[in-house]
Amino acid sequence: MGAQQNDISSSHGSLVKLKRLYLQSVPAGSIAFDALVPVGRVDWGFQDRLYNTILSKDATPYQPADAYTRRFLKFLIACLERNLAEDEELHDSILTLYSNLMSKPDSLSDATMPTFITYLLPANKPPYRGRGEEGDDTEVVISERKSVLSADGHTGSRTWEAALALGEYFLSATLPGSKRIPQCRVLELGAGTGFTSILLSKMGARYVLATDGDERVCDAIQRNINLNGRRNNISVSQLLWGTSQEDSPIYTEPWDLIIGGDITYDVRDLSDLVFTLKKLLVANRRAGAKVIISATVRNEITLSEFNTELSAAELNFEVREVSETGRQIWFYGNDTPIRIYTISLE
Ligand SMILES: C[S@@+](CC[C@H](N)C(=O)[O-])C[C@H]1O[C@@H](n2cnc3c(N)ncnc32)[C@H](O)[C@@H]1O
Repeated sequence: MGAQQNDISSSHGSLVKLKRLYLQSVPAGSIAFDALVPVGRVDWGFQDRLYNTILSKDATPYQPADAYTRRFLKFLIACLERNLAEDEELHDSILTLYSNLMSKPDSLSDATMPTFITYLLPANKPPYRGRGEEGDDTEVVISERKSVLSADGHTGSRTWEAALALGEYFLSATLPGSKRIPQCRVLELGAGTGFTSILLSKMGARYVLATDGDERVCDAIQRNINLNGRRNNISVSQLLWGTSQEDSPIYTEPWDLIIGGDITYDVRDLSDLVFTLKKLLVANRRAGAKVIISATVRNEITLSEFNTELSAAELNFEVREVSETGRQIWFYGNDTPIRIYTISLE
């Protein structure tokens, strides 16, 4: 009984990790399945838990695309087979799921088709929930496309690595100053899929406004907010950086935090972005507002141009690298450096 209990609890951590990988649709070929199953001791009970907690429709209402699940199962089944305990066999529910998917047409393999990606939150996240709010606070579900550009040519249809790094920053780091997320009114610029805004809403922010310059992206953010249950502390508005919308009421509302993930990639937009950041910081000087931006370093020259624009606007900034150990909660490659900027007036 004791040994069996040990087996169940040690497999629990592996199952949680497999679930995280599966729901985030991490490429199946890159998953070290053998490290996540009991080596040489896979039995019916383990496979039953695997099926019931990860693969069955009851376990995860927002399933990954069929094409992804099929590939995930292909690698998983091969691994289970290699590690079956003596006299054990493959679970019929897992095999049936795989064979059903094999006989389905491959409609969702196209990278431009939207698919559900679920980002599980760490189990130790404090439970925050406002009055009248619904939805699961243990995850953020996003409908997104894998492709870099949407068919309409914008970059807001997928959640970028910088947004995941920004989310990890808010889950693990202390905010500059004495404020905590539940005390903050947060404005997100270039919100894309709305991932970070929805995360902060689930972390109990007083209020979050997700903005993007592209109206179709804003419509998609609203759909993603709806996917995550009714919430009173989040909404969406269109905002293009720079002078073209400098009369927007967003500039007169109070903000404690202004945030953005992967919004520093186009050198042509940097002066408009810095104009918007400065205007917001000046308007919220008394509240000691701060800007937190997470920047993927694709091109050092672009970021050094961003630094130059910030200095020219007399904004203070600190930069810190997201180290490999910072990439703990969700799965995103560490080939490209990511930097977190903290920007303020003083
Ligand atoms: C690379 S995506 C990042 C999206 C999201 N923050 C993330 O990290 O997943 C950049 C986003 O900024 C928006 N954007 C680009 N230029 C903009 C501008 N001048 N004003 C407002 N939004 C802009 C795009 O529509 C897009 O959604």
